[in-house]
Amino acid sequence: MRYEMVHGWQIPKVGFGTWTIGGQGAPDPAGDAGSLAALRSALELGYTHFDTAESYAAGHAEELLGRAIRELGAPRQTLLITSKVSPQHLSYDQVLTSCENSLRRLGMEYLDLYLIHWPRMGMQLEETFRALNQLVRSGKVRRLGVSNFSLKLLQQAAALSETPLLTNQVSYSIPDRTYRHNGVLDYCQQHDILLTAYSPVKRRNIKSNPAIQAIATARGVSRQQVALAWLTTQPRVITIPMSSDPQHQAENLHAADLVLSAAEMEQLGG
Ligand SMILES: NC(=O)c1ccc[n+]([C@@H]2O[C@H](COP(=O)([O-])OP(=O)(O)OC[C@H]3O[C@@H](n4cnc5c(N)ncnc54)[C@H](OP(=O)(O)O)[C@@H]3O)[C@@H](O)[C@H]2O)c1
Repeated sequence: MRYEMVHGWQIPKVGFGTWTIGGQGAPDPAGDAGSLAALRSALELGYTHFDTAESYAAGHAEELLGRAIRELGAPRQTLLITSKVSPQHLSYDQVLTSCENSLRRLGMEYLDLYLIHWPRMGMQLEETFRALNQLVRSGKVRRLGVSNFSLKLLQQAAALSETPLLTNQVSYSIPDRTYRHNGVLDYCQQHDILLTAYSPVKRRNIKSNPAIQAIATARGVSRQQVALAWLTTQPRVITIPMSSDPQHQAENLHAADLVLSAAEMEQLGG
């Protein structure tokens, strides 16, 4: 596994997403056995960074993640747990309550990373950060971040966070370069903020892109591994693919060690 070192933290280049674990917008207990099996195999394979949110399966993803970790006896200090507060919970009191609820569902005493999941029109970012900074001071959260933030909002958030803002989690992949074109990636790289790429392999283009296929064939790896390597080859970029298939999970983890050459990056559009 390769890592990003930022502000004294060592963060794995590839972590594990939990969207669809436990359901989608609402809990789907019928899928619990499958969700727990997916989390168990991810932990056994050696994933240490898990990304979740209070909105995933309305909190049930957090419950299952906590349960899988306890059942396997994975030491808490070896893991990096990210959760997110939803945009409808950004007032001072709501942030504190949302965090307490996430900790209760996870069965944990602290979160490593706590993010604002989405910005909301008219949000009072100062008030939200007053609560987030309070959570860091009280030890319930170790570091703060944001998600789906434009460059302007990211700059505001970085100024309001009392501890260095650790990440902006955004959609970023070979077919979706919005956050490179809008200046967010450059800003992150210049200010030691991680860009956490979500939905790294989801798009259909990954399967039909001839340049991805050519590199995958030449290297004897899968197209998804090339798509992940395109991300992890870039400085200050980490990613959190989700898979319920243990073979895909293993492939994704190993993609962290695949460093593409400058020529290969060029073939993929830079
Ligand atoms: N902050 C936000 O607003 C936000 C938004 C979206 C997502 N996220 C986070 O980012 C995580 C990842 O994003 P995502 O779940 O949208 O998309 P993703 O990880 O890019 O794609 C997941 C899909 O790709 C398949 N897949 C994964 N690895 C594969 C491989 N090696 N070979 C073939 N298929 C593979 C999975 O199927 P199999 O199960 O069959 O492998 C699954 O259908 C989420 O789980 C969530 O934690 C955050």
